[in-house]
Amino acid sequence: MRVVESIKGMQDLSESLRRQGKVIAFVPTMGYFHKGHLKLFEEGRKRGDVLVVSLFVNPIQFGKGEDFETYPRDFERDKGLAEEAGVDVLFTPSAEEMYPEGFQTYVTVERVTKNLCGAFRPGHFKGVTTVVAKLFNIVKPHIAIFGEKDYQQLVTVRRMVKDLNMDVEVVGVPTVREDDGLAMSSRNTYLSPEERKAATLLYRALKEGERLYREGERNGRNIVKAVESVLRRESLIRIEYVKVCDPETIEDLETIEERALLALAARIGKARLIDNLLLSP
Ligand code: PAF
Repeated sequence: MRVVESIKGMQDLSESLRRQGKVIAFVPTMGYFHKGHLKLFEEGRKRGDVLVVSLFVNPIQFGKGEDFETYPRDFERDKGLAEEAGVDVLFTPSAEEMYPEGFQTYVTVERVTKNLCGAFRPGHFKGVTTVVAKLFNIVKPHIAIFGEKDYQQLVTVRRMVKDLNMDVEVVGVPTVREDDGLAMSSRNTYLSPEERKAATLLYRALKEGERLYREGERNGRNIVKAVESVLRRESLIRIEYVKVCDPETIEDLETIEERALLALAARIGKARLIDNLLLSP
């Protein structure tokens, strides 16, 4: 596995891979790998001739008072896991090179970023789309792979790619869960044993919403209420939002016609966790 630190080094390598006719699959990450990342790498391995993974904790997608400084980081561990997973190139740029003095160009996707996390984390998606656009220009991938746990992020990146005619195929990969249903996340490491136990309710609450949907409930408000009432059983959980929305536009749905995204965000101790289920016949 090659570790590439400089932007020019990565651009030159990608250019030469493309000239050799290689299909470049790309997984952008902020590191601290878990099984969810490994699943994305596996998908990348299947779809491309060369798998490039970026490891960059992107400062501009964190708001004031968020966890940029404390975000878990362990480069040596990540390097070992990436190597074992068959990653060909690990791209680890510095913040100084990504955002040099004078940097002032951002990518904003307007409507799909308004609801859900966008409403609670102003500037977050602008930071995500800006860094992903930059990474696409540096890595020049044919295929880019994202997890469905960050569903709004996936929809936002798809929108950006479409609107800006980027020549990249965006692939979504289903959420990987612990045995008790908790969605894998680097932020799960913030949880104490007691909080970790409480966190299992997030998935159970979503499953309750799904159960109602399967029984024929199509009123978004009723599904939200049922999910919230499961979450309220646990005093360690502070609900940020529970929403039923359109999976493409990410706008709230009063009545579900066919498909819907049931999404939630909650704080447990120091962790802000998100999860979702796609309600589909
Ligand atoms: O999902 C993430 O880890 C990040 O938002 C991403 C896509 C790597 C951009 O920094």
